[in-house]
Amino acid sequence: DVMKELLGLRTLEEQVEQKLGVKKVLVVAGNSDEDHWVKHELGRASISELKTKREPNDVIAVMGGTTLAAVAEMMTPDASMRDVIFVPARGGLGEKVENQANTISAELATRAGAQYRLLHVPDQLSEEAYSSLVLEPSIQDILKLIKSARVVIHGIGEANTMATRRRSKDTFMEKIEREQAVAEAFGYYFNREGMIIHKQRTIGLQLDELDKDKYVISVAGGESKAEAISAYMKYRPSDVLITDESAARRLLEIE
Ligand code: BG6
Repeated sequence: DVMKELLGLRTLEEQVEQKLGVKKVLVVAGNSDEDHWVKHELGRASISELKTKREPNDVIAVMGGTTLAAVAEMMTPDASMRDVIFVPARGGLGEKVENQANTISAELATRAGAQYRLLHVPDQLSEEAYSSLVLEPSIQDILKLIKSARVVIHGIGEANTMATRRRSKDTFMEKIEREQAVAEAFGYYFNREGMIIHKQRTIGLQLDELDKDKYVISVAGGESKAEAISAYMKYRPSDVLITDESAARRLLEIE
């Protein structure tokens, strides 16, 4: 890509690949903290990555967030995706409807001309509700589909931002401060070393199910997310990280 060479983005990609131990890093110009259009550029790159990777009858699991919502907006019709099924990776995690994994997965499918299945689970699940819900045959069917996903695409958030956005209780806010959580992904919170310090209870993909067979695409940009990206990649280096220039430059400064 000539444009990338000119902007020096290819060098940046290689530096971030080395720094994080991630096989493939794609960097788009800009800072998504400041300009919303940068999320659409992340989206464009993500869709092209998805389209190169997809295989017939693939199940693609997606997470929520404003970044993934922007990714969905960039999806275009694709006859070769007709048999692909989009599913949410996990159940409700306290997002507005437009940023929920269910909505985004339906949006991706509708725009592509592909299939989708919904997973209906309330945000706050008690242990009892959780245990009986997973026994429901209809839930078991979709869970099986979700767990069979070969491709997973998700966002990464800064811990405090995500806890606040989910209207977490004070005791939880204190916990993430005490345990120095810096990252959030899939409803899990991580410290700088990439250790899980909290897991939100909901059904769907659990992080220890992201085995090597799954192709995981992480999409996160903005300088404010550099620490979070670095922490999460220590937990599990993704197959592809799609980020922006500001996050990438900041990532290189983290010791
Ligand atoms: C949430 C996901 O919906 O979006 C989180 O559950 C993710 O795992 C977050 O970290 C990212 O949100 P945004 O708006 O920064 O893309």
